[in-house]
Amino acid sequence: MDIDRIVSEMTLEEKVSIIVGVGMLFIEGNPKPKVKGAAGETAEIPRLGIPRTVYADGPAGLRIDTTRENDESAYYATSFPIESMLSSTWNRELVEEVGKAMGEEVKEYGVDVFLAPAMNIHRNPLGGRNFEYFSEDPLLTGEMASAYVKGVQSNDVGACVKHFIANEQETNRMTVDTIVSERALREIYLKGFEIAIKKAKPWTVMSSYNKLNGTHTSQNKWLLEKVLREEWEFDGFVMSDWFAGDNPVEQVLAGNDLIMPGKSWQFIKEKPDEYETVLKAAKEGKIPIEVIDRNVKRILKVMQKMPSFKGYQYSNNPDLEAHSKIAKRAGLEGVVLLKNVQALPVTKETKIAPFGYTFVRTFRGGWGSGETYPRYTISFAEGLLEKGAKVDEKLLGIYKEHYEKRKAENVNEIEVKFFEDIFTVEEIENYAKTNDIAFITIGRMSGEGRDRKAEKGDFYLSDDETALLEKVSRIFHKYGKKIVVLLNIIGPIEIESWKEKVDAIVLTWHGGQETGKILADILLGEVSPSGKLPTTFPKDYKDVPSWTFPGEPADNPASVTYEEDIFVGYRYYDTFGVEPAFEFGYGLSYTEFEYSNPSISFDGEKVAVEVTVRNVGKFKGKEVVQVYVKAPKVQIVKPLQELKGFEKTKELLPGESERVKIEIPVKALASFGFGKWIVEPGKYEFRISASSRDHRAKAYLDLERMEFDV
Ligand code: BGC
Repeated sequence: MDIDRIVSEMTLEEKVSIIVGVGMLFIEGNPKPKVKGAAGETAEIPRLGIPRTVYADGPAGLRIDTTRENDESAYYATSFPIESMLSSTWNRELVEEVGKAMGEEVKEYGVDVFLAPAMNIHRNPLGGRNFEYFSEDPLLTGEMASAYVKGVQSNDVGACVKHFIANEQETNRMTVDTIVSERALREIYLKGFEIAIKKAKPWTVMSSYNKLNGTHTSQNKWLLEKVLREEWEFDGFVMSDWFAGDNPVEQVLAGNDLIMPGKSWQFIKEKPDEYETVLKAAKEGKIPIEVIDRNVKRILKVMQKMPSFKGYQYSNNPDLEAHSKIAKRAGLEGVVLLKNVQALPVTKETKIAPFGYTFVRTFRGGWGSGETYPRYTISFAEGLLEKGAKVDEKLLGIYKEHYEKRKAENVNEIEVKFFEDIFTVEEIENYAKTNDIAFITIGRMSGEGRDRKAEKGDFYLSDDETALLEKVSRIFHKYGKKIVVLLNIIGPIEIESWKEKVDAIVLTWHGGQETGKILADILLGEVSPSGKLPTTFPKDYKDVPSWTFPGEPADNPASVTYEEDIFVGYRYYDTFGVEPAFEFGYGLSYTEFEYSNPSISFDGEKVAVEVTVRNVGKFKGKEVVQVYVKAPKVQIVKPLQELKGFEKTKELLPGESERVKIEIPVKALASFGFGKWIVEPGKYEFRISASSRDHRAKAYLDLERMEFDV
């Protein structure tokens, strides 16, 4: 397509119609949606051959409506594990496969751009959308997002990395001013995006709701023009988050190419009509025509690659069966075994006493735009029963009945504080006598629009949960039987105060539609857990470094200052000697791995670290090898250590070994100081590790000072 010619033939009105979306599609008077349940569309210009293009959410799978008027068909999409669980796999190939499967559904349901992956940082464990984000670490975030984007875009549909940038909380997300130093931005918050944009070339970027150091990100020229385009050479287009910002003219000028969803005033009456406002400003010369043309061209350049543009005949029939298998495989590698004192795996003969409501009503993912509408969700109970496990029927019946009753009462399952402590001591004695093991399931939900709370029933166990846990632990242990806690949670909770009371703890996250099948394979030992934590589980909320969260004043924050600066997550816990309950990168297996023969080499550009990993236990399994670098302190203050590389082994049989090679570009060792990236001179310690606190081997390298421009 000759974009210059097309733009030269466009009227000003047509140009503005391309850079402002058509409004929310379900509103009377707006165009009828091409794909029902998609989040947005752009306008068509038939005389120039420009079709409508369609944008729909993720990131746990495609979000579209399952039903349509006068249409018998159902439009289900696969529900995959939440992003925090995908990153717990530390497996690039697997996440790329997930992206590929999601992208096929995007394409076959007639969508052009998938509004995923989200990739903000787990700054605080209470972040309401943390489940949609990968990690507290920028390297893991960037690597996982790159794999995800590559997978999605291998279908010739677009991905959209979001929310750019510093959108780490839901409280007052549309107005809060996030104050962050340039160093923390560059090293932590921007870094993951930088990696993904350079490695995977996403077609689009979504700017965020919040302000960054005083200016809405969608109106921030430094961010969108200088950092994103000039420095990183991003060549797709930027769209706003839905209804974001307070000045569409500023958005256009700042290089926020597409304003979404358009017609904001239909929802928020204080908002101007973006189309009229931009048109008027252009006519009055307040937006130079070159700027309008620039934005239109950026959009058209990407649009011409879209399925709608190419007239792709989508099938409405993606391979949901094949994708359910990928969703399960991803979940299997994302389960993190936090504790196991000879309790797991169990066998099909083990008699299981299940406690806890989410065992029967298992959560598959969080709420909001990241929700999914799959064909089914397999609960923990269903997953285990399907495999032939022996689950106490009476207990199961009680929880099921309880669930049906609540459903009939129409209680909001998310809001409801479940009655967990419903059994007397005598009843639990009976269950302990007739069963071999207790499973206690603890569930937590969260979602868009609200942060979690450092309160009982959320970050802490509720009184009911504590009472149940104590009773079951005391009584089952009295009979010499083990207790396993299954965490069907969406982000960190407090575990430290009760972890000694139980024999095993399994972090199952929210595993999407296959969640119960995933759990069953892990508990029955068909697959050994190989997930590692992408985020620290602190001992207590008071240990969390982002003490300013969610800003000032706390009940209605106008701003939030990232005072911990670069000391986010383990960078803080390690540097300041605060011991977590479970550290970043941690996760057990049913087998054991031994590390040997470390070596290191440097070719002037890349450092290559190698180590041999041998499976010395009795189960087959995979290991995630992590490299943390302790850099010399010269002029720039640094965290004790930082993750600089990782690889996951293949599945190793008992006795089998693999030589693992991890390459680290030397530039990745630089810190941001004095407006540049600087590798300071001295001795670098490369810690080859099974977690951020379990270093198995070390290698050293002396480096000279190096400088790189931004
Ligand atoms: C969310 C985005 C989402 C958009 C469209 C916004 O509320 O922040 O992540 O893509 O809605 O649904």
